Amino acid sequence: MDGFPSTAPPPTRRLSADAAGLEQAAALIAAGRLVALPTETVYGLGADATDPAAVAGIYAAKERPSFNPLIAHLPTRAAAMAQGVFDAHAQKLAEHFWPGPLTLVVPVAPGGTVCDLARAGLDSVALRVPGHALARDLLARVGRPVAAPSANRSGRVSPTRAAHVLADLDGRIAAILDGGDCPVGVESSVVACLGGPPRLLRPGGVTREALAAVLGFSPETGGEVGARPVGPGLLASHYAPRAGVRLDATRIAPGEAVLLFGAFRPEGLAEACAAENLSEAGIAEEAAARLFSALRRLDASGASVIAVAPVPEAGLGEAINDRLRRAAAPR
Ligand code: TXA
Ligand code: MG
Repeated sequence: MDGFPSTAPPPTRRLSADAAGLEQAAALIAAGRLVALPTETVYGLGADATDPAAVAGIYAAKERPSFNPLIAHLPTRAAAMAQGVFDAHAQKLAEHFWPGPLTLVVPVAPGGTVCDLARAGLDSVALRVPGHALARDLLARVGRPVAAPSANRSGRVSPTRAAHVLADLDGRIAAILDGGDCPVGVESSVVACLGGPPRLLRPGGVTREALAAVLGFSPETGGEVGARPVGPGLLASHYAPRAGVRLDATRIAPGEAVLLFGAFRPEGLAEACAAENLSEAGIAEEAAARLFSALRRLDASGASVIAVAPVPEAGLGEAINDRLRRAAAPR
């Protein structure tokens, strides 16, 4: 429901840090709803990481301007390691720092269940086992990876207590599990282990010194990954379909594949070799949830060009257009 609100949303439920609260929080997440949860670093805005509609709800609630890749949270090291491919460095770091405020970016495992949208279309996945008992209890009850960026609206500081979360998100999320103050108070360190030496993409709860003590050397500092992970070009090239992408198409050439949004029908649509509508009803959240899979299906049609009908810039449309522009960027 968080992804596709048709009526005024119900108020955010405050769940207490006991078995009943945990059970309700887990049931809501399993049902595709958004639940803010405490971790040792900051409160996360949690959703089922395997469900693109639920993940689209995170971006909508946060009013994120673009689809940044999200961290998938797991209750145990074993559960996290099943989602990624861990080289020797990553294994060492996982053994020493999990559970704890470290996020490892590793290649996605062949059987990985974190959806494309949560990974922003990348072939890597960010994994974390939080060192907060309540968070781990909740994650174990959910039984699936939980995507959770900091539970603030975009552009605001990260929340370290329930009241901060409610100030930003009350009425926009199903519930918050109140675990009191977050002990660490800064986000996790993000370390990429993608072959070659590990890189520190974001300094955080695990210090460089602590990382160096385990690795035997200080990790290189990666590029800023807040908005554009691992450099601006990489996200686009990982994400881009094989076919060329033509934006703002109001007329279709014979043989093109077409990505539609809402009720608008470009001229020449009957000549298209394939068509997908991101959202017949013109709902941006629904469109965001479908964007990556729709592009993949259109690419599989074999067309050399995917023509994209205009998508309004409002709400999540801005993020959808950002991703589409990356897909259309010269490469
Ligand atoms: O402490 C934290 O990490 C908190 C709590 C809730 O766990 N979460 C958090 O998430 O700070 P978020 O979404 O605000 O930050 C995730 C960071 C971003 O800088 C993002 O670019 C990076 O992780 N990231 C995620 N997946 C990535 C990937 N595949 N490649 C490179 N960077 C990635
Ligand atoms: Mg954040």
